[in-house]
Amino acid sequence: MTAILGLNAYHGDAAAALLIDGELVAAAEEERFNRVKHCAGFPELAAAWCLADAGLTAGDLDHVAVSRDPKANLGRKLLRTIRHGASARYLKARLENAAKVRDVKSALAAALHVDPGEIRAALHNVEHHQAHVASAFFVSPFEDAAILSVDGFGDFASTMLAEGHGSRFTVLDRVLFPHSLGIFYTAVTQWLGFPAYGDEGKVMGLAPYGNAERHVARMRELVHLDGSLFELGLDYFTHDKEGVDMTWDEQSPTIGRIYSDRMIEAFGPARETRAEMTQTHEDVAAALQAMLEEAYLHLLRVLWERTRIPNLCLAGGVALNAVVNGRIRPETPFEEVYVQPAAGDSGTAVGSAYWVWNQQLGRARSFVMEHAYTGPGYSDEECAAAIAAAGLSAERLDDDALFAAVAERIAEGDVVGWFQGRMEFGPRALGNRSIVVDPRRADMKDILNARIKHREAFRPFAPSILAEATGDWFEQDYTSPFMVLVYKTRPDKRDKIPAVNHVDDTGRLQTVERQVNPRYYRLIEAFGERTGVPVVLNTSFNENEPIVMTPEQAVETFAKTKMDVLVLGNRVVRREAP
Ligand SMILES: [Fe+2]
Repeated sequence: MTAILGLNAYHGDAAAALLIDGELVAAAEEERFNRVKHCAGFPELAAAWCLADAGLTAGDLDHVAVSRDPKANLGRKLLRTIRHGASARYLKARLENAAKVRDVKSALAAALHVDPGEIRAALHNVEHHQAHVASAFFVSPFEDAAILSVDGFGDFASTMLAEGHGSRFTVLDRVLFPHSLGIFYTAVTQWLGFPAYGDEGKVMGLAPYGNAERHVARMRELVHLDGSLFELGLDYFTHDKEGVDMTWDEQSPTIGRIYSDRMIEAFGPARETRAEMTQTHEDVAAALQAMLEEAYLHLLRVLWERTRIPNLCLAGGVALNAVVNGRIRPETPFEEVYVQPAAGDSGTAVGSAYWVWNQQLGRARSFVMEHAYTGPGYSDEECAAAIAAAGLSAERLDDDALFAAVAERIAEGDVVGWFQGRMEFGPRALGNRSIVVDPRRADMKDILNARIKHREAFRPFAPSILAEATGDWFEQDYTSPFMVLVYKTRPDKRDKIPAVNHVDDTGRLQTVERQVNPRYYRLIEAFGERTGVPVVLNTSFNENEPIVMTPEQAVETFAKTKMDVLVLGNRVVRREAP
């Protein structure tokens, strides 16, 4: 047996993943355990859980891989430091971070409460973007693929183009600091008044309200596509001169302001957080998204010219931009697309582990990541105990009665917390830790926002649809199991599912297949039989904190929000009448 533990450590969305003989047996983000959103630091609880879940001890591990390599791109890094200088504070922070990455074994020993000498595993430092590339290609269904990874930065790079065949991939090209599409998107997101780590997805939802045309010419000054890949117009940013003021400690990452005064000259004063959203803000958001799409599709065309392989794998935080992903098959020569469900940084835990198994050890591929249900699961007794501990009572229904009864509650307008099986890995709830409501009710968005989610009104909610029905409701029918593709809603269906039809008549859909998630499939099927609409609105099971992991957290969220029904496995809890 070969056991490989992959880690994303000292970087946002810290996570751990465990491979046994090439099969992904466990993977989860640290934030779900310690309840700190996007938490960086060392994934100590996630790593300990992975081993416990598989019944392994520290001494059973053969390899430990971390998705950071302080030596990667070192020559360019040093050259840049010498030429441009860097503040002492910035250099000190970077050196301390690099030292932690090199000493992962000590942190792991502490997390597992063992002596470092008990960990006999070989340690591998995997360049951040190679871990992203590995995270998409090695678990994809493709023997051969073109691979693109795009994010803010990792190990001094922001973009990697690669080509994979069998158990190996070759790096074709990189874009290095200071040029980065992730930084571009983050900078304008900050200007728009969303300073928190991970807020870029909000702006993707805002963009369709605006008109891109007014500002798109200016956006081309921020991102230049001439030359082979792209460059930033550095006048608009500060990260190049001042470094990025980031914290990667045991907390939610923060990132200091990275847009320059030139951005304010170009677009006007930055929006204060929670200030009114004006037409200008919406138009800038639209132009930002349009520019991102233009640059991303440009990179894909370059990648196509260099590889001519019709299969495409995507990873990196920018690959979570589902709007541009939806344009790939209609507008580029790529015919098949695989986006890893944890395309952001947590997925590099999986990628670094597969980098060892395939790229390093040369082992044959045998695993395809068809679902994201790799996190903790809980027994019926544990669910019952959580309900009882909260002083609530539940009715236990057999499967046949359960799906019909819950579908009826959804169709009657109830807000249902749906907790089943193992927790999802990656940022999306995909039917195991979801809040599910009726997509036919136009007021459902406002109800969810007022009672539970408290999100900005402009943000869309996403549909889950039976896979076979996709083409009847959307203009593309290619499978989208991980909610990373946005499709146009068919014109005759838009007014039938108003709660999941965004302002530009699109949906960021999850296609649900019976063999991938039979229980969620049966719930949607039962809702479809009752209503003629094989679609539900699916949003993550949380209020403002990370998605719930345990039955206790589900019960607590149910109790403190105004949810109507909670389903834990086969147990149904109804809210008492006020
Ligand atoms: Fe990344």
